[in-house]
Amino acid sequence: MSIVYLNGEYVPKEEAVISVDDRGFLFGDGIYEVTAAYRGSLFRWDLHLARMNRGLSALRIDFDPTELEEVHLQLLKENSLQEAPVAFVYTHITRGVAPRTHQFPSDPVAPTVYMFAGEYSRPPRNRWEEGYKAVTVHDQRWARVDLKTIQLLPNVLGKQAAIDAGVDECIYVKDGMAIEGALNNFFTVFGNTVVTHPTSNQILPGITREALFGVAEKLGYEVEVRAITIEEMFQADEAFHTGTLTEVKPCVEIDGRPVGTGKVGPVTRALFDGFLEVAGRKD
Ligand code: PDD
Repeated sequence: MSIVYLNGEYVPKEEAVISVDDRGFLFGDGIYEVTAAYRGSLFRWDLHLARMNRGLSALRIDFDPTELEEVHLQLLKENSLQEAPVAFVYTHITRGVAPRTHQFPSDPVAPTVYMFAGEYSRPPRNRWEEGYKAVTVHDQRWARVDLKTIQLLPNVLGKQAAIDAGVDECIYVKDGMAIEGALNNFFTVFGNTVVTHPTSNQILPGITREALFGVAEKLGYEVEVRAITIEEMFQADEAFHTGTLTEVKPCVEIDGRPVGTGKVGPVTRALFDGFLEVAGRKD
């Protein structure tokens, strides 16, 4: 039985109830986070906390998420996930429950905080070694995707477009540039140089992306943070997506065209292994 956290209480999932007046439900008025836990240890909690604080302050939701670190650890415990090689905790914070008005509630209400934990089963290495395919999708998201808001309809449609095309991931393209995935960041590799889109309002500043910079540096690769054109993307030697639970996911084909040799490349492989080491586990 799964134990979840809702507004200060740990309850069986079946007993967790949220009002139909919740502004998350009515307006998508809130933020979320997904934090990985490698054998019970939260990966880069400080960065997740900072990103939540940034989102909450941009949305003007008055809530201090610092105390949620404890809740993350408790949820792992309640769900016997402390020893799991990779688990995750999902956090969802909305402006709260109030009669439907577009403007903020006139009387302040408490935010709704809902969290749950689960186990992530990493694909077997031989599946990973086959690589994954992607399609490009026109990026129709709003102009503040740097905030991790719960309004994810374009992301849902982007990922579904990939599934409908019989592939695994999407790559958002906009103004001739390859930007990021529907639920992950996107990197290309040219020789010993790893390239990814700069942080701006156009991508989510991924915590895995950030961690990869450290891994790449340690392994002696150059990191270039710049936009890449779609044409350039098709010339790349290698490509991969990064994210919480995506980890480092090799992209070997885009829109039916092979990336480089069409096989997982040595840089992606080295970065994945380096990432697993940084995350504290290598299997
Ligand atoms: N997705 N870009 C987008 C659009 C994302 O939704 C995510 C994360 C990332 C990678 O960020 P990070 O490395 O901090 O997980 C990039 C989460 C995991 C999700 O929606 O499930």
